[in-house]
Amino acid sequence: MNRKYRKTIIAGNWKMFKTPSETRAFAEELKSSLPRAKRCSIALCVPYVDIPAAAKILKDSRIAVGAQNVHWASEGTYTGEISADMLADLDVKYVIVGHSERRQLFLENDLLVNRKVHAVLDAGMNPIICVGEDWDQRQIGVTLELISYQIRTALAGVTPEQMRHVVIAYEPVWAIGTGNTATPEQAGEVCSAIRGVLRKLYGARIARSTTIQYGGSMNENNAEALLAQEDVDGGLIGSASLKVESFLKIIQIANQE
Ligand code: 13P
Repeated sequence: MNRKYRKTIIAGNWKMFKTPSETRAFAEELKSSLPRAKRCSIALCVPYVDIPAAAKILKDSRIAVGAQNVHWASEGTYTGEISADMLADLDVKYVIVGHSERRQLFLENDLLVNRKVHAVLDAGMNPIICVGEDWDQRQIGVTLELISYQIRTALAGVTPEQMRHVVIAYEPVWAIGTGNTATPEQAGEVCSAIRGVLRKLYGARIARSTTIQYGGSMNENNAEALLAQEDVDGGLIGSASLKVESFLKIIQIANQE
């Protein structure tokens, strides 16, 4: 990380875990045990139905509430879907877009991700855009090309001014929920390549100030080494964000001077 130029963001992605009651208990405990230092931003991306509970308790705290998905249209006949304006109205600040579980299990492609990025930005929120290769793609050696394609497509039509609101998360698919973390060097290499793509698209100043997180089995034991990489500006954390204790430890590590 490099706090001189960009925000460090530690975000939890709860996926499909925790009820509204469990959310209330978690949010109260987390809020009351945060470290004093404010060197990193914190977000909790919770299931849709948990958002009101999280937003109520975390209002006036330094923990932002995030969602894990959104529909691309502003409104319409889309049974079961949720729009960006609905989320913004609940004080949601971040929305995860293009998570690999959505790409794999719900067949979301890069063009759809681009439409969702615009929906989130148009509603005044911050997209956390997930990119990453699977194991076969890494073995074949196309990781950097693939990620460059994912970034370029996701950001098509996004203006330099809007880039202030964009967060990128590098999440190698083979490291998600598997316990196999990318080594700090692997994470650093891809995050730095992502910054290179941003430099080509938007120039050095914007590339330098964009937050690029790592996600994939990040926990309290490996966070320090991952965050020590110059281009890794935080974490998108799945299972280790489900317990206050482990999530707090990662926040403490990101807060260290
Ligand atoms: P895990 O931390 O459980 O591997 O999940 C990572 C992730 O998918 C965050 O979005």
